Amino acid sequence: MSEKSAYEHLKKLDPEADQVVARYPQSGSALLPLLHLVQSEEGYVSPAGIEYCADKLGLSTAEVSAVSTFYTMYKRRPVGDYHVGVCTNTLCAVMGGDAIFATLKEHLGVGNDETTEDGKVTLEHIECNAACDFAPVMTVNWEFMDDMNPDKAVRVVDELRAGKEVHSTRGPALCTFKQAERILAGFEDTRPGAVAGGGAAGHATLAGLLVSQGRTPTGPAVTTEASE
Ligand code: FES
Repeated sequence: MSEKSAYEHLKKLDPEADQVVARYPQSGSALLPLLHLVQSEEGYVSPAGIEYCADKLGLSTAEVSAVSTFYTMYKRRPVGDYHVGVCTNTLCAVMGGDAIFATLKEHLGVGNDETTEDGKVTLEHIECNAACDFAPVMTVNWEFMDDMNPDKAVRVVDELRAGKEVHSTRGPALCTFKQAERILAGFEDTRPGAVAGGGAAGHATLAGLLVSQGRTPTGPAVTTEASE
């Protein structure tokens, strides 16, 4: 698709883009959700998407580019159906994140920030997601997959590529990258049980608090390679 027709194609987002802009007293504040809306259509922030946001918000393309290249959730190349992020920051790395990433690279035959030939999975190593208490963690389209190990990670990507329904370890069924981007743009999350599931702190997050209160932590026992 040419640059011009890509821009024209994005015009179909106008009604929803107007809803996003109307949420803010200053239109420029709508840039982050608008970029997610562009990604919900294109799977990344394309040059046409940058121009579209700039026109919609009265910004320059340089200003939109500066923002979209600063935040890692905005992608410069098309993402597959499932963005699989493996945390390789310090805590996750020592708990097995590096091994998960190496295993997935080999299993999927892709490098960092690359997509499998079938267009299903984009693999990326990601920084700390503030989920260190469930390390090592992976994300699929930004939903958490807690307490991963290489075998579990391979099973997740295989099931996703086979079109099976896979759930985040915190409940919701995983949707596609484009569907997730629409939710991040601020539109309704229609996945059954996703909103009703709440979002209360999990067992690992509360373990220290319970110990400090003289109570017994709940949830599965923590195991490490050394203790297995
Ligand atoms: S180091 Fe992985 S979530 Fe914090």
